[in-house]
Amino acid sequence: MRVLGIESSCDETAAAVYDRSAGLLSSVVSSQVAVHGAYGGVVPELASREHLKSVLPVVERALLDASSGPDAIDGIAVTAGPGLIGSLLVGLCFAKSLSFAWEKPLFGADHLESHIYAVFLEHRVEFPYVALLVSGGHTSLFRVGGWGEVRQLGGTLDDAAGEAFDKAAKMMGFGYPGGVVIDRLARGGDPARYAFPRARLKSDSADFSFSGLKTALRTFLASPEGAAARIEDVAASFQEAIVEVLVEKAIGAAQREGIPRLVLSGGVSANSRLRARARERGAAAGMEVSLPSRALCTDNAAMVALLGERRLSAGVVSGPDLNAYAASRFSR
Ligand code: KG4
Ligand code: ZN
Repeated sequence: MRVLGIESSCDETAAAVYDRSAGLLSSVVSSQVAVHGAYGGVVPELASREHLKSVLPVVERALLDASSGPDAIDGIAVTAGPGLIGSLLVGLCFAKSLSFAWEKPLFGADHLESHIYAVFLEHRVEFPYVALLVSGGHTSLFRVGGWGEVRQLGGTLDDAAGEAFDKAAKMMGFGYPGGVVIDRLARGGDPARYAFPRARLKSDSADFSFSGLKTALRTFLASPEGAAARIEDVAASFQEAIVEVLVEKAIGAAQREGIPRLVLSGGVSANSRLRARARERGAAAGMEVSLPSRALCTDNAAMVALLGERRLSAGVVSGPDLNAYAASRFSR
């Protein structure tokens, strides 16, 4: 089965073609970073307008790159939620129209599930596994028992890890999105230079909290010590506080579930320190740690096409009443 995937949940318009036997045939991502950068974050109305402009050329490019016309496509998968409603509706209406015109089955993909299964584009992982999903909008741990079998083990009580990275970068005077800037700066800094707070909550909790860390950084930057600090050391120490908690809680959750497999996903899992520490700590705990390559950690449609292919070929089809949804369907 060959599936066209479309993703427009936030500030990336993406399309991809995935084939069960040939694998990923194309993956196109059009980023709106230049549009939102000036505002220090994603402006929902601008995002929808950009998706409207990009969706057709992006889908055309993905089909061309995959040398696939409508006849070669067996189904269409599209992100239905969670995300920005106006943005989601652009991709959703486009996908519904294609499905109707081409007479191909449609699958409404959950964005979080797409991230959680993205690892299969490059790696073989056995079920069950524990997935740490860390992005701009979400920071959660899941037990993944199979395709469509996802149970949330815990999540953030306040900010998502990516949001904490982005807000910290803003406080340090860098643009949006800031996670990647902090990652780069931190390579030249000392992660043990400043002791920023780690919110561990209860030791057996799979929940997270990053708002205290954000406040601690703001207070520190406004202090005389903060004003004189090397920005690389601040970035490395701040990043370490996030990474340490993420890795500790992910491994702890997997151990409590009795599952020796951990999968990372979402934009923040592109972070080099998180990747290195998850591998090191995972190996020390006897755990198999699988990571998608960086381009498949951040938003893309390859993961949507893959999930769509698995679900459509299992007979799971969405009806014409498929609608977009803003909030996560998973609860703690
Ligand atoms: O998954 P994603 O592309 O979109 C959402 O669904 O949210 O994640 C975007 C988030 C942003 O907060 C961005 O700053 C963060 O991922 N991010 C990073 C890195 N690359 C992207 N955070 C830390 N280090 C990175 N290298
Ligand atoms: Zn995402």
